[in-house]
Amino acid sequence: MNTVRVDEQSYGRLTKLLHWGMALLIIVLVSVGTYMTGLDKSDPDRLQLMGMHKSFGVIFMQLAIFRLIWSRIKRSPPLPGVLASWERGLSRIVTASLYLLMLAIPFSGFAMTNFAGFPVSIFGLIEMPQLFDKNQEMAGLAKQAHGMLVYALIASIFMHIAGALKHRFLDAPEADVLPRMMPLKPRV
Ligand code: HEM
Repeated sequence: MNTVRVDEQSYGRLTKLLHWGMALLIIVLVSVGTYMTGLDKSDPDRLQLMGMHKSFGVIFMQLAIFRLIWSRIKRSPPLPGVLASWERGLSRIVTASLYLLMLAIPFSGFAMTNFAGFPVSIFGLIEMPQLFDKNQEMAGLAKQAHGMLVYALIASIFMHIAGALKHRFLDAPEADVLPRMMPLKPRV
């Protein structure tokens, strides 16, 4: 099918949509998550934003699971042959961290909510299964993990972007991988 085709040079349309859509969701989830935790506990906005954060976070979790499966079905186009072996190794490590964190962060948020004694739903419309019983100690641990994993995600995203920009602007034109993920013409 044309919309999901991956050829030697580029990612398919569905992969690009997942990549950019989830990148946008990460920006929104991190910004709203940081903002809402700074609000006073009595502020009604805090509860409302938390509900939105949880709902979009659960949607993100489902997209991340789908994306992981999709990446096994539609393999990435091969890395340019001009890349050094350390660049290939680093690229694999950063990509693996991104996948791991995209699953671990929403999962820790889900676990924190259940451990704190609350169910998780998507906008109050779809109830998610209760995975964990109430346990305040575990809720505290999951909350710490949730915040710390976000720092690891930001560091991984930074390396991911730095790599893409290095290959585009500092390396040989054949090393440029940016056009594969966006409607950009390769550099000549
Ligand atoms: C990729 C997905 C997610 C990202 C990037 C994300 C990001 C964040 C961030 C940055 C914070 C603020 C942390 C702090 O400053 O201490 C936060 C807080 C929070 N998140 Fe998430 N989150 C995600 C998914 C979820 C999910 C799926 C849930 C629950 C179903 C959830 C529940 C919460 C809760 C309850 C808080 C407030 C914790 C507190 O009381 O301080 N998050 N999140």
